[in-house]
Amino acid sequence: MIVLVTGCRSGFGLHIAVRAARAGHTVYAGLRDLATKDALLEAAAGLDVRPVQLDVVDEAQQRAVVDAIVEEHGRLDALVNNAGVALGGFWEQVEEDELRRLFDVNVFAPWALTKRCLPHLRAAGARGIVINVTSMAGRQAMPGLGMYAASKFALEGMTEALRHELRPFGVRVVLVEPGPYRTDIFGRNRTIAKHADEASPYAPYMARLEAVVAKLETKMGDPTEVADLVVRLLTDPRPRLRYPLGPGVPARLWARRVLPFEGVEKIIQRIVGF
Ligand SMILES: NC(=O)c1ccc[n+]([C@@H]2O[C@H](COP(=O)([O-])OP(=O)(O)OC[C@H]3O[C@@H](n4cnc5c(N)ncnc54)[C@H](OP(=O)(O)O)[C@@H]3O)[C@@H](O)[C@H]2O)c1
Repeated sequence: MIVLVTGCRSGFGLHIAVRAARAGHTVYAGLRDLATKDALLEAAAGLDVRPVQLDVVDEAQQRAVVDAIVEEHGRLDALVNNAGVALGGFWEQVEEDELRRLFDVNVFAPWALTKRCLPHLRAAGARGIVINVTSMAGRQAMPGLGMYAASKFALEGMTEALRHELRPFGVRVVLVEPGPYRTDIFGRNRTIAKHADEASPYAPYMARLEAVVAKLETKMGDPTEVADLVVRLLTDPRPRLRYPLGPGVPARLWARRVLPFEGVEKIIQRIVGF
């Protein structure tokens, strides 16, 4: 298959690119900045991984990448919208420019890139697939991560509709919803609202959340698990819509299924300590 994956510098994207190529696919691996391709190239040595300049919020780059793929192969079979950013901070601490930037990357970019790829994916018919990486945060919002959750809820909603819309064309549409995995989103790419500082009335609660995340760090999953799932889904003829996975995820889903929101609220209150 001819596969386009976004956000391949690190984390899930890097592993998806490498493992999809290992499975025999031709992979176009989008990088926000092509100069950061070294880790990917090293991991993909000898494989058909082709790094491409693709800042997902840049429409001209989106067009150039999709046109180049179709010109070279006459087709595009799979799009994996993986690139994403997080934003920590309570509702009152987040500024509009921060929220807009978050939605540009996590919502508007996958919408626009998918739209650009759709004529080719429709032409691919049953071989065609869109895989959107959302999050458990796209199913359940935690305090201090509400804006991130909102962006993933938005992507979940539009993806659910897309699944219905593409059914007549045979194109498959899937959501991958990871829990916490050890990637650069918790390190190099960790982003906190600029007003989430010590002077904020929310500071003590933010500190508690940070302690919860620090404890979680030892229990985070191995991102290759998510990559292997994505690679398997590429050729799954009848995938489900949703694939939640990761540490703690089955328990969270179970609680959501059997408890009213107020029951889940009590559990979250106990976890975060406020
Ligand atoms: N790790 C988790 O626990 C977890 C859980 C649930 C969902 N997710 C989701 O998984 C996806 C991948 O994240 P990750 O955990 O693998 O984190 P990561 O290691 O930080 O990877 C994110 C990737 O997205 C890229 N990216 C960010 N902005 C971009 C842009 N404008 N254009 C193109 N690429 C861009 C980053 O490139 P640069 O580094 O060059 O900016 C990086 O390669 C995200 O959608 C995230 O929300 C992660």
